[in-house]
Amino acid sequence: MNGNVLVSGGLGYIGSHAATLLLEKGYDVVIVDNLSNSRKEILSGIEKITGKKPKVYFEDLKDPAVPEKIMKENDIKAVIHFAAYKAVGESMEKPLMYYENNLFSLINTLKASLNYGVKNFIFSSSCTVYGEPEELPVTEESPVVKAESPYGNTKKVAEDILTDLTNAEKSFNVISLRYFNPIGAHPTALIGELPLGVPNNLVPFITQTAYGIRKQLRVFGSDYNTPDGTPIRDYIDIMDLVEAHIVALERLFIGENESNFEVFNLGTGQGGSVLEVINAFEKATGVKLNYVITDRRPGDVEKIWADPTKANKVLGWKAKRSLEESLKTAWEWEKYYRQNLDV
Ligand code: NAD
Ligand code: UD1
Repeated sequence: MNGNVLVSGGLGYIGSHAATLLLEKGYDVVIVDNLSNSRKEILSGIEKITGKKPKVYFEDLKDPAVPEKIMKENDIKAVIHFAAYKAVGESMEKPLMYYENNLFSLINTLKASLNYGVKNFIFSSSCTVYGEPEELPVTEESPVVKAESPYGNTKKVAEDILTDLTNAEKSFNVISLRYFNPIGAHPTALIGELPLGVPNNLVPFITQTAYGIRKQLRVFGSDYNTPDGTPIRDYIDIMDLVEAHIVALERLFIGENESNFEVFNLGTGQGGSVLEVINAFEKATGVKLNYVITDRRPGDVEKIWADPTKANKVLGWKAKRSLEESLKTAWEWEKYYRQNLDV
C-alpha cells in the first residue's frame, strides 16, 4: 500500500492496538497524540511488538495547523480518528472541554483531509448513541436517541457532521464504527488500557483491585431488571475490535463501500452482566476479587448488546475471543504495567 494511515489518538488504548496491527499488516503509520490520556512508554510497546518505528507527532488536533502540517508532510491515504476525551462523568462537569476537544479535533482533521485530498476516514463512535434501547439487540437501524452526557452527545453530533459532510462531498468516504465495551489488552501484555487516575470503567477497576491498588470494587446496583440484577453490556476484546478497523480500512481502499457513509456496530452479540464479568475474571486468573454491591451509578443504562450481523456479513468480520481470554490479557497487562512502567 502506498501512502500512510494517520492514526489520531494512536497512543491511546484503542489507537495503540490499531497502530500495532496496522504496522504488522504492512501499513505505514503516522500517529498524532497530545498525550492528554496516554504516555510515551506506549510507543515503546508498539515498537517492541512490531519491530517498527511509526512516525509520531506529539501535538494537539485542536490546533487546526497540526493536521494541516501532518497532511502536508506525509502522503496520507486514510485517517482513523480515535482522538477524543472519553470520561462520561468528567464530561458532565466540563461539557465545553468535551465539545471543544472532540468536535474541534474532528473538524480540523476533516478539513485537512479535504484540503489534501484524503478520501478515506474511519471514526470511533460508541453504542452510547443508542441510549437505553427499547429493543435488544441493537442494530444500526435502532433509534439514535438524545445523549445522556456531553461525551455521548459529541459522538451523536460527530455522526451528524459526518452525515452532512458525506452528503456534500460524494468522493469522501467515511465508516463510523460504534464500539460496544472494549476490554482486554494485547496478548504480549506490552500495551493495554492506561487509565490515568481512578478508572471509571469496570475492567481497569477490576484489575487494579486485584493488584491491590484499589481496596474494593463497587458493583453499581443489583436491582436492575436482568437475570442477576446487575447491568448487562457487550464486552468486546480489543484485538477483535481493532481487527474490524483493518477490514473497514481495506473496504474503503478497495472501494467496496456501498455508500460514502457507513455505520457498523462492533460487538460480540452476547451480553454479560457485571457479576458475570467478576466471575469470569476470577476463573480466568485465579485471583479473588474484593467487591461490594452499592447503589446504582447515575446515568447507567440497564442493558445493551449489539446485533453485529451487519459487520459479520458486510465486513466479513466476527468477534472471536472469549470474555475470559480478554480478562486474562487485561490482567497480564495490569501486572506488566505495574512492574515495568508504573515508576
Ligand atoms: P484513550 O483516551 O485511551 O485514547 C484517546 C487518545 O487520544 C489518547 O491517547 C489522547 O492522548 C489522545 N487525544 C485526545 N485528545 C487529543 C487531541 N486533541 N489531539 C491529539 N490527541 C488527542 O481512549 P480510547 O479508549 O482509546 O478511545 C478511542 C476512541 O474510541 C475515542 O474516540 C473514544 O471516545 C472512542 N470509544 C471508546 C470506548 C471505550 O470504551 N474505550 C467506547 C466507545 C468509543
Ligand atoms: C461507559 C459510558 C460509555 C462509554 C464507555 C467507554 C456511561 C453511561 N457510559 O460505558 O458512553 O463509551 O464507558 O468509556 O458511563 N461498573 C461497576 N463498577 C465500577 C465500574 C463499572 O459496577 O467500578 C459497572 C457499570 O455500572 C456498568 C458496567 O460496569 O454496568 C460497565 O461500566 P463501564 O465500564 O463504565 O462502561 P459503560 O458504563 O457501559
